[in-house]
Amino acid sequence: MDVQYSGQILRLSNGREEKHLHWIQPGLIRIYKSKNSEELVRLNLEPKAVELLVEHDGDDVVARWDDYLLKVDEALNVAVYREGRPCFAEYTGDASVYTQKKEFSLAELEGHKRSEAMADFKTQISVAIFDDSDKFYGLGDKAAALNRRGYEYVSWNTDDPTAHNESYRSLYKSINYLLVNHHNDRYYGLFYPSSYRCVFDLGKYSREFFYIGSQKGEYDYFLILGKTPMDITGIYSGLVGRPLFVPRKMLGYHQSRWSYGGRELGEVAERFAELKLPLDYIHMDIDYMERYKVYTVDRREFPDLKQTARELGARGVDLITIVDPGVKVEQGYFVHDELEAMGGFATLDGKSYVNQVWPGDSKFPNYFRKEVADYVTRITEDFMEENAVAGIWCDMNEPASFRGPLPDEVEFPSDKAMHTHEEVHNLYGEYMCRAVSEAFTKHGRRPAVITRAAFATSSPFTTTWNGDNQSLWHHLAVSLPQVMTMNLCNFPMNGVDIGGFGGDTNPELLIRWIQANVFSPFLRNHTSLDTRHQEPYAFDRKTLELYRGALDIRYGFLPYLYDLLEKDHRTGEPIQRPLFFDYPADPQAKERNDQVMVGPNVMLCPVVHQGQTSRVVYFPQGRWVDYFTGAVYEGGKEYLVSMPLEAMGLYVKAGAIVPMYRGLTHIDDEKLDTLYLYIAKGGDGEYLHYEDDGRTLDYTRGICNRYRITKTADVLRFETVCGNFPTRYKQVVILWEGKEIAIPFAPQFVCRLAD
Ligand code: GLC
Repeated sequence: MDVQYSGQILRLSNGREEKHLHWIQPGLIRIYKSKNSEELVRLNLEPKAVELLVEHDGDDVVARWDDYLLKVDEALNVAVYREGRPCFAEYTGDASVYTQKKEFSLAELEGHKRSEAMADFKTQISVAIFDDSDKFYGLGDKAAALNRRGYEYVSWNTDDPTAHNESYRSLYKSINYLLVNHHNDRYYGLFYPSSYRCVFDLGKYSREFFYIGSQKGEYDYFLILGKTPMDITGIYSGLVGRPLFVPRKMLGYHQSRWSYGGRELGEVAERFAELKLPLDYIHMDIDYMERYKVYTVDRREFPDLKQTARELGARGVDLITIVDPGVKVEQGYFVHDELEAMGGFATLDGKSYVNQVWPGDSKFPNYFRKEVADYVTRITEDFMEENAVAGIWCDMNEPASFRGPLPDEVEFPSDKAMHTHEEVHNLYGEYMCRAVSEAFTKHGRRPAVITRAAFATSSPFTTTWNGDNQSLWHHLAVSLPQVMTMNLCNFPMNGVDIGGFGGDTNPELLIRWIQANVFSPFLRNHTSLDTRHQEPYAFDRKTLELYRGALDIRYGFLPYLYDLLEKDHRTGEPIQRPLFFDYPADPQAKERNDQVMVGPNVMLCPVVHQGQTSRVVYFPQGRWVDYFTGAVYEGGKEYLVSMPLEAMGLYVKAGAIVPMYRGLTHIDDEKLDTLYLYIAKGGDGEYLHYEDDGRTLDYTRGICNRYRITKTADVLRFETVCGNFPTRYKQVVILWEGKEIAIPFAPQFVCRLAD
């Protein structure tokens, strides 16, 4: 074997083929034959020094660093070991069976879809499955359980309004990232950086290997090594870009419905205020536009949207408006004419390509060209300014099209090269969001942007929701693994439509939905046109009370969520995550689809099945305090807990300190003057709390406060470790064993809890 090593790149050739291994940092190795293009898929490849020792071992080449050993055999297969135990291995057997085509035409006549894995792939990456207990997490918004083992998925952003289930290969997002668990406590990450359509077969056809196939993508993947899921997630997040730090207000409650008319906006805000229901945003769906023309307002329905927005704003409620990519084909409509004049639409055979979306015949802006992206930024700025709109909801950006899919050959040239639809399809939503998000950052504001379509690298520009679910119990249950998986995939600000988008909800389903998603970082109740109303007050008094109870919990825990969001933005640590993330070696923690860790200290165990009034809760090691009753559970076992409709399982780790607010009906950054510190009994703890202005980019210049709070025995110590932001806090109230101890705010203080 021919071996060369320089610049942390190992080049290997066995005479038949070549492979490269590039150590970008100790836990990040790029393994490739040819690289995928990085012009549009932008990655952070900043190198860190790795001390690598390369030597021959018989026919193998061996590289050693830290406590890792990597071996490449004659056939160029790579295997990694840590402390002598396997960590990762490319499959050395024959995987060709997967390219065999089967006779399928008869079944196709009836509408059955051919499996993508039956196609021929230029690129096949096959990786060993060590054991039947290996698990696969990741791949974004799939409507399935946490563990993807046994399924096949296709990365191809897809708008499918029928009821999603685990057999759906593609949904709105393409996030080619897997977190693999093997040998009980071992994990590695794998990222495939191609934007082309590709297939992941996760042990569906074989118990021996899993498989990534692609017709156009290259043999090129990133192997991510670390001791814990957190190490791996942190490295992955650094590679694809840290998630967006949104305005604090975005953590509030959002109410939506396709489509509120002009009068309804005021009515919704009025009802929420009158019923003391917290509310931060109302979303405006496509009907606010004039005949679905983006960046216009139907002035008959909304004669003075700016005034309406200001009136709502005065009550603490901001407006978010939907924007789709499809631009109506209409001479005299400024967006159409201006983009056409700059050659700003995707083209086919030299002409702007036309398909159909809400406005009828529509053209698709080519966001990959700077001039077009800048134009979209500008009209977004103008639109928000003219109408006092606070946020933008980017929809239909897979891109969805009603007259069949866009042909693969549709052209989307960038400033550097020609690109076709099949290359940019999965990136289209991201490039739309990049342009929109720039309209905020340009003015020093944090973006309030939401998207349906996304690629692995989209999270620095936008938050996400998971598209058109339905008012089904199954969709409620799957919302938990969906949001947890999106969090593991570097998309913390994620959520689903509370109550379900399609179909009619009912009081029990709605209550269970809001309870189960109460910590979902993006929290919006949204439903389709012509469905039953599902605002919290749409049903009876009891439903209203229970819904409000859930929202009170949400607003109570806001500073905790904000601390988690800030940390995620800095380190990639997910907000809402599966139990195994915090308890990686606990076999019981691996497939808990209905238990959610919210940061390291809070665990939510809701009911997600109709009629259920009790459930099994697994408590991981340690002691856990029931937030509502104060009951203490010893960890390491399961309990059967009573959970009538009034209840959801909410547990805090013994000794944990949780920052809270009280009595908020919306988030007003200026008025957050009292910090509550809830201390869960039964232990000691330390906590870092973060404070800043909540909406600008000043934090990037270090204008923020960090407080360290420690509780040992009965002493609580509060210290300011960074204090560059003029604090809003006037007092701190300690919630301890049923007592409330109020202390005027001081940068440092010590409090004896027993006094
Ligand atoms: C899409 C969106 C949905 C929206 C509708 C109308 O289906 O996913 O949220 O309400 O379009 O704009």
